[in-house]
Amino acid sequence: MTKAPEQTGASAMWGGRFAGGPSAVMQRINASIDFDKRLYAQDIRGSKAHCAMLVETGILSAEDGAAIQNGLERIRQEIESGQFVFRTELEDIHMNIEARLAELIGDAAGRLHTARSRNDQVATDFRLWVRDVLDGMNGALKDLQAALIDKAQAHADAVMPGFTHLQAAQPVTFGHHLLAYVEMFGRDRGRLHDARARLNECPLGAAALAGTPFPIDRHQTARELGFDRPSANSLDAVSDRDFALEFLAAAAICAVHLSRLAEELVIWTTAQFRFVTLSDAFTTGSSIMPQKRNPDAAELIRAKAGRVIGDLNALLVVMKGLPLAYSKDMQDDKEPVFEAADTMELSIAAMTGMIRDLSVNTLRLKEAAGAGFTTATDIADWLVRVAGVPFRQAHHITGRIVRLAEEQGCGLEDLSLIDLQAVDPRVTGELYGVLGTEASAASRTSFGGTAPANVIAAAKAARQRFL
Ligand code: ARG
Repeated sequence: MTKAPEQTGASAMWGGRFAGGPSAVMQRINASIDFDKRLYAQDIRGSKAHCAMLVETGILSAEDGAAIQNGLERIRQEIESGQFVFRTELEDIHMNIEARLAELIGDAAGRLHTARSRNDQVATDFRLWVRDVLDGMNGALKDLQAALIDKAQAHADAVMPGFTHLQAAQPVTFGHHLLAYVEMFGRDRGRLHDARARLNECPLGAAALAGTPFPIDRHQTARELGFDRPSANSLDAVSDRDFALEFLAAAAICAVHLSRLAEELVIWTTAQFRFVTLSDAFTTGSSIMPQKRNPDAAELIRAKAGRVIGDLNALLVVMKGLPLAYSKDMQDDKEPVFEAADTMELSIAAMTGMIRDLSVNTLRLKEAAGAGFTTATDIADWLVRVAGVPFRQAHHITGRIVRLAEEQGCGLEDLSLIDLQAVDPRVTGELYGVLGTEASAASRTSFGGTAPANVIAAAKAARQRFL
């Protein structure tokens, strides 16, 4: 006579062919319950859909089906009220819930796993979870875009220096600068949207890897769970984690965008720049230097991009070279995704708060806008437009004018007409009209350019495209 699993310490789930139980270390490395308990709601939802389908197809009696549905509902309440006892020896969320179901309703619980495996179960749960994250992140990015568009509209005509190489290049408007980020976060949302469309196929019913002999209806469970269709190949269904990788890739790119904006906030809030001021709500003081107002949230957002990039790499490496179909390696898919989802949620919320609260020092921006001879290109353009000078030659003449201003220690607009004409006699007094930073910005009316009129139109268009 073979002993029942409970007498040998072997698992109640697969103990049939085992004489003994796993060692303590084996339990620790094998268990995922500490983190995959986050999938409880998706696991219950998937089980309920599976159970309803089993009843409808006549695989399960209506009576057993009702007992299972009630039991699962009760387990949800136990988990949500904190009464549920998660047990490491039951390995993961799927077996924890199933074991509790058996305690609650007896033998009928054992019928729920008909025509299903943990392999298609976890793939389904995880897709449902990631799908919610994609939707949540899309909404959060939309809020961030709204904050940026509001600020951009309020400062559509505030001139500031635009940079290349972080060297003053040409005057731009503050609104235009912010709207650049609205485009980036718009593309991030596009990536989430695309990822969602490919994610939305249901693995449930692929069973362990080969499908099942039971007359299940995979279309019904797919529909019930809000998927567009059942996944077409059972081997692919249980071994695909592209949806997690696509989320992580989109998150990593978005984190990079956030880090660039964060970095600009860090630079802009220095005493040397003073372009913007962050609110008390989004800064910290120093315990020793009373004058300090540190942009910690921006610095942390900048730092956290590292984690998300790491999460993407972690899962890419887990998946690399895995033979079909399921391998236990794939249990390690969850923590990177959880970490990235939590990090993105916090980073986007903090960035949105900082932008909403941001005050813009327009006087300081204007003062900085002209520093570094940022209207030099306007002189060259004027020489081309008005005096008919070829651009390369105009560039050379302007270079000499800039050198003159540098020698005299003044701005381009402070040079005398006599000095300007000494460099090139084709210069007239009219040139002074293009030397101001506001005139410079206002002249850049080409599509997508920085002129205030463009920014107002672009902000309006962005509202329509994104909000
Ligand atoms: N906890 C496992 C995971 O997350 C569930 C699937 C287990 N399947 C198996 N064949 N051992 O991947």
